[in-house]
Amino acid sequence: MIWRRAAMHLLVSSVVVTLIGVCAWADLTVQNRGAEQLVIDGGSKGVVPFPHYLHQSILKDCNVCHTLFPQEQGGINRLKTEGKLVKQQVMKKHCLKCHKRLKREGSPSGPTTCTKCHVKDKK
Ligand code: HEC
Ligand code: HEC
Ligand code: HEC
Repeated sequence: MIWRRAAMHLLVSSVVVTLIGVCAWADLTVQNRGAEQLVIDGGSKGVVPFPHYLHQSILKDCNVCHTLFPQEQGGINRLKTEGKLVKQQVMKKHCLKCHKRLKREGSPSGPTTCTKCHVKDKK
């Protein structure tokens, strides 16, 4: 009877291993990372080119940004027009907050001066 239990164990564990493998594979292939480079509408101040993949690889966690706004091009703007985000909220409470903190800590940070983010004449 021992061999039957052993065989059962083997069967169950190989099914589990296969399932884990399939899930990991599905997660990697299904996840849509969006565009490598994005342009955020900065309203009157001019557009903000945004290196998306750079942030994904540095920050690792999508939710750092995507709990505040959706994984959608123009999503920030849509929430602003719907009144769910106020103008400059993402910039001040999010982008700049992180860049300034890293700068204070002496770590590599993104830009903190207006014109480094808002490029003129691109609209
Ligand atoms: C540092 C912030 C940040 C992080 C981290 C981040 N994103 Fe984004 N993502 C953005 C911004 C900004 C936009 C554009 C929003 C807009 O246009 O209003 C965006 C848009 C998107 C879009 C829609 C754009 C397109 O090209 O279709 C997808 C999909 C997306 N993100 C997926 C992800 C995934 C998956 C991760 C994690 C691996 C991730 N993002 C991490 C900031 C981020
Ligand atoms: C790290 C990049 C970054 C820096 C630095 C930055 N901004 Fe922004 N700014 C953004 C982003 C992204 C938006 C769009 C999202 C939002 O409204 O929060 C924005 C939006 C704005 C808006 C809102 C425009 C509108 O009509 O909705 C104004 C005004 C503005 N910025 C002014 C400034 C000024 C002034 C400075 C310098 C003190 C500055 N920004 C620095 C990224 C930046
Ligand atoms: C949680 C931290 C964090 C947040 C949030 C964040 N950034 Fe950054 N950003 C970084 C870091 C780290 C770098 C890379 C610094 C380096 O390695 O040179 C960076 C770099 C950048 C650069 C310069 C890229 C280059 O090629 O030099 C831009 C532009 C930028 N960020 C814009 C933004 C905008 C716009 C937002 C908001 C939508 C944002 N960031 C949100 C951490 C953040």
